[in-house]
Amino acid sequence: MWKGRFQTETSNLVQRYGESISYDWRLYAHDIEGSIAHAAALQDAGIITKTEERKIGKGLREIKKEIESGDFRFRMSLEDIHMNIESALTDKIGDAGAKLHTARSRNDQVALDVRLYCRAETEAIFQRVMLMQRALLKLAKQFPEAVVPGYTHLQRGQPVLFSHHLLAYVEMLERDRMRLADCFKRINIMPLGSGALAGSTILLNRRLVAEKLGFPSVSQNSMDAVSDRDFIAELMFVISMIGIHLSRLSEDVILWASAEFGFIELSDAHTTGSSLMPQKKNPDVAELTRGKTGRLVGNLMSLLTTIKGLPMTYNRDLQEDKEPLFDSIDTIKIALEVFAEMMAVAKIREDRTREATSDPFLLATDLADYLVLKGVPFRQAHEVIGRITAYSIEQKKDFGDFDLSEYQQFSEVFEKDVFAVLSVETALKSRKAIGAPSPTNVKRQMGYWEKRLSTKSTLLK
Ligand code: ARG
Repeated sequence: MWKGRFQTETSNLVQRYGESISYDWRLYAHDIEGSIAHAAALQDAGIITKTEERKIGKGLREIKKEIESGDFRFRMSLEDIHMNIESALTDKIGDAGAKLHTARSRNDQVALDVRLYCRAETEAIFQRVMLMQRALLKLAKQFPEAVVPGYTHLQRGQPVLFSHHLLAYVEMLERDRMRLADCFKRINIMPLGSGALAGSTILLNRRLVAEKLGFPSVSQNSMDAVSDRDFIAELMFVISMIGIHLSRLSEDVILWASAEFGFIELSDAHTTGSSLMPQKKNPDVAELTRGKTGRLVGNLMSLLTTIKGLPMTYNRDLQEDKEPLFDSIDTIKIALEVFAEMMAVAKIREDRTREATSDPFLLATDLADYLVLKGVPFRQAHEVIGRITAYSIEQKKDFGDFDLSEYQQFSEVFEKDVFAVLSVETALKSRKAIGAPSPTNVKRQMGYWEKRLSTKSTLLK
């Protein structure tokens, strides 16, 4: 492509070192789409004829078919997808092909291709996040009555509806979905026409190209446009955040699936056995997701580190953006799919959740609140219940096993109605502030999500 200035061939080692075709081939459809739009702008500017534009379009579509049927020969010596396609086109149609790269550089070309790719993949991830939200909602709706201890510090705290716990993840994923939508706006800007870095002396209608490719706007600074990778970093951050949310859920699922908790039964299809221990049923999907999240964060760090010391404008370092990006996208898509499939068919073991929530200490806060409602300052109430808890441990007796006189030894405020507090049902019912897990609230939230998640939603027009 640049033989004019050079006397010797590029060393084979340099070719192997610098090639990106082994992974950027997957941009082929976007590269072709971009070239077809570019050809229209060249025709519009009078650089090529209508016939040449048609030839280019036909040639490019043929190349696309060849790539898809496996008949295309990718050549490492042609470095990347852009030069592989351009060279094949010129072999096919001659001069018209050789005109295609007018007023274009691989720098704005690759920026365009990656934006088109990120646009499609952001939509694909967006849909899979919804899939995952729906799976969580489905599981929540299947066990609307299940109660579990809510934990802080992984110590039992207060009772909550299991569905409330699951809906917490639906909320996290909803924020991720909004992050995708927001980052999509910055992906959706058309960079072609920026040339190598300073546009071109040949004036092309950039808006026409944008329109053909469905971009609402064009980039406003050619130097920024060829070296900006913020949009990739941003997408990789959102992907990492989704991964981190799935990883937190993984940790919950792994705990729940253990004999110690036993809150959940995963299906045989979503667990694996042990090659040695015959009794095992392992939650590998959750462990892999927790593990793969490390890769997602690593990929983000890799890109940020690549960008941080780069002078303006394009530098070859930027070619290093693609492998981590592709890896993050592939990883999060399958993670969301497999996790959604697994959660949608999981079963809650209500015998075990009931047993765990029968722990009377889960209601200690409610007892303190009881005293508060009788006029005791909260700090004093807290201390009284703390002493009753210590007494309960010492006597090996539950809160419910004491008689009223025992309570009254700790505070005269206690009356017969204290025993009504000692029920998980009451405890849940009373938690009716916005966002708290009363059954009525949680039911309303499930209705809200049901409606929201059954409406089709897309980032594309
Ligand atoms: N393969 C290159 C990349 O991914 C394309 C742009 C190359 N431009 C250049 N001037 N060498 O960044």
